[in-house]
Amino acid sequence: RIAGPSSLVIFGVTGDLSRKKLMPAIYDLAHRGLLPAGFSLVGFARRDWADQDFGEVVHDAVAKHARTPFRESVWNRLAEGIRFVQGTFDDDDAFDRLAQTVRDLDTERGTGGNTAFYLSIPPWAFPVVTKQLARCGLAESDGDTWRRVVIEKPFGHDLASAKELNAVVNDVFPEESVFRIDHYLGKETVQNILALRFANQLFEPIWNANIVDHVQITMAEDIGLGGRAGYYEGIGAARDVIQNHLLQLLALTAMEEPLSFEPNALRAEKVKVLAATRAIGPFDETTARGQYTGGWQGGTKVPGLLQEPGFPKDSTTETYAAVTLEVQNRRWAGVPFYVRTGKRLGRRVTEVAVVFKRAPHLPFDSTATEELGQNALVIRVQPDEGVTLRFGSKVPGTTMEVRDVTMDFGYGHAFTESSPEAYERLILDVLLGEPSLFPGNDEVELSWRILDPVLAHWAANGAPPEPYEPGSWGPPSAERLVARTGRHWRRP
Ligand code: BG6
Repeated sequence: RIAGPSSLVIFGVTGDLSRKKLMPAIYDLAHRGLLPAGFSLVGFARRDWADQDFGEVVHDAVAKHARTPFRESVWNRLAEGIRFVQGTFDDDDAFDRLAQTVRDLDTERGTGGNTAFYLSIPPWAFPVVTKQLARCGLAESDGDTWRRVVIEKPFGHDLASAKELNAVVNDVFPEESVFRIDHYLGKETVQNILALRFANQLFEPIWNANIVDHVQITMAEDIGLGGRAGYYEGIGAARDVIQNHLLQLLALTAMEEPLSFEPNALRAEKVKVLAATRAIGPFDETTARGQYTGGWQGGTKVPGLLQEPGFPKDSTTETYAAVTLEVQNRRWAGVPFYVRTGKRLGRRVTEVAVVFKRAPHLPFDSTATEELGQNALVIRVQPDEGVTLRFGSKVPGTTMEVRDVTMDFGYGHAFTESSPEAYERLILDVLLGEPSLFPGNDEVELSWRILDPVLAHWAANGAPPEPYEPGSWGPPSAERLVARTGRHWRRP
């Protein structure tokens, strides 16, 4: 799958995302031979740069962050197609120059005028930029030439604002030209949830409320929020990752089998399962909200959120959030989906754990099964990518004692192929016009509809988030949320 003639225009090229993810991903695609010969990269920003200055910025980002080794020949070919347009979002001239650049690239490099516009900019700037693109004729696709827009979260901060944002974007770009990035969908291990479930006979028959006791979706990070106040303050953990990444993980775990992997078949199933998903109350007992304090983490002294630069001393932004969800359909009714995420936790780990019911009867002495837990299938999204199955086994010896053991599949052992970075896969799909791995506006709105009641409850209740220590697994209320039904969180 090699992209056809095209170019990518990035708005917000001076931001972190561009330097750390987008530019390196473009080089990696070039290195793997997946970009067309005349592929061109255009940066748009306020800086007073010439093409060459921008080229140096890209070079620097590639040298620092690309996955694949630096090869002069790959770089030189990419560098020939690098252009820069200087301007601000309200500057008509700048956008006219951009339109001219797009036309020139077609003549000089045979891009066919096919262009993806990557809006790596805050959502307040979407209306002005999309209108500018429309004004200078850069938003219309026709039979020969395509134009696409790529947008990054936050897609709003609640259902109402998400609808407004979708309306603004769809006013200019038809839905089939809009690619919303949720980079979790670009991860190999996330796509593998579909292979695990639907390429095998083993799991689907037990993947339901008869056999599954509950599901735990964990995204734990050990880093803090130093340097991210501008984005994170007032947003918090639930909006930052539950609304998008974690609900996408839930959707892939709980959805029905798609008709095929044709574009939109996957999205159709995700839409159905998200429409059936609700947050379960009473929220004082079924949700948790925390904020990390200062303290020690792995032998290093770290500041609390309130001491991080840029956060107000009385910030009530949560850095930990947990919710209890239920998928209200025949397959899942009654099975809690516990979803949690936090910063400065014990370790960095993302996983989906499907925990099975206990065996209905154990023909052993009660002392023989003291160390027997519940069977679990754990999809290890990162960093130790793989799948673990936990089950009971006889302890070697003269008595019939059983204990939990695990069976592991690890990517590093099973495959010699290396995983592309999530952004590589997603940028390639944008250029190919393959929408499956991009949430549609309906998915975004349904995800807000699930989370809104919890957010409204937290706002009305007005209580500050509960403090928790760095290196811990969150605030005490997080434990209570699962303990109230006699369950407990895994310690990944
Ligand atoms: C981003 C969030 O979407 O995902 C960040 O805004 C978070 O807060 C990041 O740190 C985590 O991504 P990954 O791929 O490292 O798990």
